[in-house]
Amino acid sequence: MKIEDNRALAAKKTYTTTYLLTFTLSIMLMFTACHQPTRVTSPDGRTQVAFRLDEKGTPMYDVVKDGKAVLTDCPMGFVLQDGNLTEGFELTKSQTRSLDETWETVWGEERFIRNHYKELQLCLRHKSDKRMDICFRVFDDGFAFSYVFPEQAVDSVVIMSEETAYRFANEPTVWSIPWRTEYYEALWHKTPISATDTACSPITLEMADGTYAFMHEAALTDYPAQNFIFDGQTTRTMLTPWQNGVAAYEKAPFATPWRFVILADDLPQLLASRIMLNLNEPCKIEDTSWIKPMKFIGIWWGMHLQTMTWEAGPRHGATTKNMKRYLQFAAENGIGGVLAEGWNLGWETWEHFDFTTPYPDWNMDELSRYADSLGVQIVGHNETGGNAADYEKDLDEIYTYHQAHGIHVIKTGYVSPIIRTIDGLQYNRSQAGVRHYRKVIETAAKYHICIDNHEPVMPTGLQRTYPNLLTQEGVRGQEWNAWGTDGGSPEEHVTVLPFTRVMAGPVDYTPGVFNFANPIHPDTRVHATLANQLALFVVLYSPLQMACDLPENYLLHPDMFAFIQRVPCDWEQSRLVDGRIGDYVVMARQERGTEDWFVGAVTDENSRDITLPLDFLKPDATYEMTVYADGEDADWKTAPYSTTIYTRTVSAKDTIRIHMAAGGGCAMDIKCL
Ligand code: NOJ
Repeated sequence: MKIEDNRALAAKKTYTTTYLLTFTLSIMLMFTACHQPTRVTSPDGRTQVAFRLDEKGTPMYDVVKDGKAVLTDCPMGFVLQDGNLTEGFELTKSQTRSLDETWETVWGEERFIRNHYKELQLCLRHKSDKRMDICFRVFDDGFAFSYVFPEQAVDSVVIMSEETAYRFANEPTVWSIPWRTEYYEALWHKTPISATDTACSPITLEMADGTYAFMHEAALTDYPAQNFIFDGQTTRTMLTPWQNGVAAYEKAPFATPWRFVILADDLPQLLASRIMLNLNEPCKIEDTSWIKPMKFIGIWWGMHLQTMTWEAGPRHGATTKNMKRYLQFAAENGIGGVLAEGWNLGWETWEHFDFTTPYPDWNMDELSRYADSLGVQIVGHNETGGNAADYEKDLDEIYTYHQAHGIHVIKTGYVSPIIRTIDGLQYNRSQAGVRHYRKVIETAAKYHICIDNHEPVMPTGLQRTYPNLLTQEGVRGQEWNAWGTDGGSPEEHVTVLPFTRVMAGPVDYTPGVFNFANPIHPDTRVHATLANQLALFVVLYSPLQMACDLPENYLLHPDMFAFIQRVPCDWEQSRLVDGRIGDYVVMARQERGTEDWFVGAVTDENSRDITLPLDFLKPDATYEMTVYADGEDADWKTAPYSTTIYTRTVSAKDTIRIHMAAGGGCAMDIKCL
């Protein structure tokens, strides 16, 4: 069997690959005849990965970029239940190949993505006779590797730990959250690597020479999520275990998720990297015409402010009457959908939610007809309270019910630090949890249902394969600004997220608060100005973007709400124009299928003036630019509603100066005339 067949066979276990959505501009597969190659260089020749077996037969790799060591003497391997795969290997075969293709996304930050890499495939035999392949891919903006266990006599593989390490040649600083963070809902902190303890994947690194790196995994489908532990300048992979201490139960042939490291010269290059998506399998859904990015509002913020309740009662939010009001508002304002939480039985105890029986004051048939007549979608809500097993058992029935009521998007929830899977109580990031979430996405696809997964496993690019996985939480989102006991997220939080959490995939942060009063928790609030809240629709990418405030609050500022009505959530191309992690961000994105551009800029606790060259616009075209900026006296604490809106004609030759208040921002709608 050829080496490349091993990976394909391993992948086939979970995917029968169809390339229907792959738009291949050029493709080149080239096998190098060279005798047992052990090095591979990126297409641009700048990055080299070198593999070797040390004197004990331990697999090791080194990475050099522009002639300088980035990672040195990095060991690889596994501890299995029946022995260690950390030494005692011999190399039996190796070869290289390369690929250069361009594919079209169903939705995304970019319409076309180039997948250009060189690959090194290594076949290893362990002294115990076990076989393990390692596949490296080197791109212009980073590298990746995956372990492949080919078909072999003893096919059961019980992994106790993965012994992958990354030894940095210089000391970087790391943006991270600790690995035990529940649901990944924490503020990101920056520490020197030697002072970092543990982290969830991903992490973002500021390198000693001023360049950047980002470490994460791709294509996590049947394996535990990775975390990191740090030891001096070394980072080690730590897999999320089952409750019995085992990391993963596998059956050969199988391939692990890809481990990848983006190596970027600067922040625009870091954010432009599409390595993670490229490492995922192509789209498996044949007809994707039903998968549509959209904005939605919802019966939601009221519950977090405690002016409404999820459970039935005098302040019940999800009533037929209230929902009709929201649906009507959405229809009148060009908003695609309305979420309703607390429409179904089970909220009194959070023990057994019923996903097909509404509370008596919610008439699903009537609402479904009403929504349809208005051309607005109901966004379903399935909070499981962490009882994934109950949910999984009834998925077909639940999705049949939602489909019958015209529901094509469901927000799922797993509020419980440990979830009940079909294999008992487990971490949601364990292999059992990963399997459950994938089952949900695959089943939902059969019913033409898209998923917005709250309390998820950190995204790893699976939306390339299943574009019905529209967005996920896995972030300290807006809701913390309603009830966080620390007063709400600090202003810098949204200037960190684009470089950290959002690098792993779309985020359901829920921007768009227009009323900063919080009567129940007066000491907690959104640390932002109105212009900042608008900018987040561009800064924090999600194809499903929730404008989270109440309709009556949007009516308070109709001139600002006009931006939310206009801003799209599907893009032709995106680029970071300027920014510094934790200080400020300026993002520009071109609407998919038009020549219109939208800009979002946010700053931390410091007000700042920035200059924005409009050179991303089409040359020789004229645009009408509407700017939604902080007013002169704006300040998130003292004057958050102070705004200035102005319109002028611009072209690619213009440069704009923007003033942002403390906790402020700016949003721009640049329409091609
Ligand atoms: C936590 C989710 O993040 C939030 O959006 C939702 O309202 C509650 N769980 C209830 O499901």
